[in-house]
Amino acid sequence: MEGDRAHIEEASRLLARARSVVVVTGAGVSAESRIPTFRDAMTGLWASFDPQRLATPEAFARDPEMVSRWYDWRRQKCAEAIPNPGHEAISAMERALVARGADFLLVTQNVDGLHRRAGSRNVIEIHGTLATWRCTRTGEEYSELPVPLPAYPCPSPAGGLLRPCVVWFGEALPEAGVRRAVEACGRATLFFSIGTSAQVYPVAGFADVAAGAGAKIIEVNPEETPLSPRADVVIRACSAAALPQIVAGAFPGSAGADR
Ligand code: APR
Repeated sequence: MEGDRAHIEEASRLLARARSVVVVTGAGVSAESRIPTFRDAMTGLWASFDPQRLATPEAFARDPEMVSRWYDWRRQKCAEAIPNPGHEAISAMERALVARGADFLLVTQNVDGLHRRAGSRNVIEIHGTLATWRCTRTGEEYSELPVPLPAYPCPSPAGGLLRPCVVWFGEALPEAGVRRAVEACGRATLFFSIGTSAQVYPVAGFADVAAGAGAKIIEVNPEETPLSPRADVVIRACSAAALPQIVAGAFPGSAGADR
């Protein structure tokens, strides 16, 4: 596709001279790793459940067995998945930028942990992570839990129940993470929105913060989103295909997806 090639080259040019980059990702970046999105996860065994009724503190209080079983099932799916070339390219982008003294921050809405497993370092998991659970009584966090958990709900060693460290509907996002992300957007010279429908706030508003500070906006998404009309470069492609090309074009020799 000629159009896409030209847009990818333009993205590489912008990346090659960027001094401060913020990347925001959503469920689409994990599509090629076969992670079911929040809504897609409601299949098979879980087809008759409403995700919004499983992802609230009230749902956990009402039925901790079902809620912890569902989240542990998703945790297992993530543990079985492997990072794809899109995750690897974002990790390679960070290494190349940091090596030449540029700033980089990745803000992901995904709770699957695949960015960290691909080697990304400066990451804010703004909706939390399925890999860590915490005690409902003390807040103590546990990351080395057996897969699957031994019981539903699972008692915590500290006396409460274990719940996943994800942000449920009705809960606040981590304040420090949101502040850090907004500050980085305010300094950004380049902003990527990758694999997100750009509809869930506050993350959906980060592109406008960056654009207000003068950053160029690049979107990588096979579908149109509310951000598309405001983006400087729109790449209508899957992230696993487009990102390695963008990074390899910007930093020849970094080999995009290679580590
Ligand atoms: N590459 C890039 N983008 C893709 C790909 C792909 N291979 N496949 C799908 N997409 C795009 C879709 O076109 C869509 O715009 O990824 C986006 C996924 O949108 P959502 O499922 O709404 O995911 P996201 O934007 O991450 O949702 C944000 O909402 O559901 C809650 O808490 C949940 O963190 C999630 C938040």
